[in-house]
Amino acid sequence: MSFLSTDFGIDLGTANTVVCRRDGTILINEPSVMLVSLGPDGSRKPILIGHQARELTGRTPVGMATMRPIRDGVVTDLQSTKGFVSAVIRQVARRPWERFRPRAICGVPIGATGLERQALVEALEEGGIGHVDLLPEPIAGAIGCGIDPLEARAHMVVDVGGGTAEVTAFCFGGILSSSSCRVAGDEMTAALNQYLRQEHHLIVGELTAEDIKIRLRTSHDTTDPIVVEGRDVFSGKPRVQTLDPDEASLAIRPTVDGIVDALANVLDQLPPQAVGDIMQLGVLAFGGGSLLEGFQKHLEDALGFAVTLAERPLTCVAEGAGRSLVLPSVVAAFRGAPPTF
Ligand SMILES: Nc1ncnc2c1ncn2[C@@H]1O[C@H](COP(=O)(O)OP(=O)(O)OP(=O)(O)O)[C@@H](O)[C@H]1O
Ligand SMILES: [Mg+2]
Repeated sequence: MSFLSTDFGIDLGTANTVVCRRDGTILINEPSVMLVSLGPDGSRKPILIGHQARELTGRTPVGMATMRPIRDGVVTDLQSTKGFVSAVIRQVARRPWERFRPRAICGVPIGATGLERQALVEALEEGGIGHVDLLPEPIAGAIGCGIDPLEARAHMVVDVGGGTAEVTAFCFGGILSSSSCRVAGDEMTAALNQYLRQEHHLIVGELTAEDIKIRLRTSHDTTDPIVVEGRDVFSGKPRVQTLDPDEASLAIRPTVDGIVDALANVLDQLPPQAVGDIMQLGVLAFGGGSLLEGFQKHLEDALGFAVTLAERPLTCVAEGAGRSLVLPSVVAAFRGAPPTF
């Protein structure tokens, strides 16, 4: 099947949705969040998607709710995902003929089950995509970073997103080994949230906790504490708390350790012949979770390979999915790549 210049590469992520053209141009890069109005019959009508919807997380008026259609990288609610996909297509295909059943290649977690893959295809097709091909996200991300997955050389990539963390080694169009866990960036945020509640008796919203986590990346240059605004657990009144960046990092540490241990499992199945290639090339990391302060070093210690961060860690999966529109042999090689744990 040949794809047209109006077709899409899609990364329908737990945290962010990115859609690209086949030349890698980004058409949309928005949080996978949807604001819906709740009907008396339980129906949910999408009102807003993306940044505007995310800004309303934790502050939605009565009769509305924000929701995330994707959990752990997979479709949990077909109806809402379908609604989300239709809204995304309306934004990226502005001209009516572009909306006439476009075709797409969409990333899928390497650890997704057959049923989860089927649900993703169904949500995309019912949401308005005419024909969907799935490509494992680690392979799409690698292509987005300029790696040729058909090369007779072993590569290893790590993708830590909002809901899934995966490591995959591949060579010559096939998977050598992979390891996947459904604990990633969002659980790091949740750990910080819980810590603030338990240790500082402060209730903060999800967006505040995520913001603290993201700020850790720049805070290591300074010793300035982070100022956190929230509500006191006991009095219910607003309160400001200062938080030391090292303390925040320690709060997230057990979650990060869990993820890194799960990813290091891949080493058990790695063919020894592949080790030399990966030692030479290093491991490529992408996905927003890999941006966490200290994550790269932690991963290097666990894997024993040098780890480099991708240039565009948040968009390379969609860029690679887009570029695969003109790489039918890659899509065919990885079609239905069986999940391995
Ligand atoms: N600088 C940063 N430091 C730490 N975490 C970050 C940073 N920037 C983004 N993140 C986290 O990265 C995650 C989102 O990453 P990404 O967009 O790759 O996920 P996704 O592809 O939507 O999810 P998945 O692949 O699991 O379905 C969020 O948990 C976000 O908080
Ligand atoms: Mg992702």
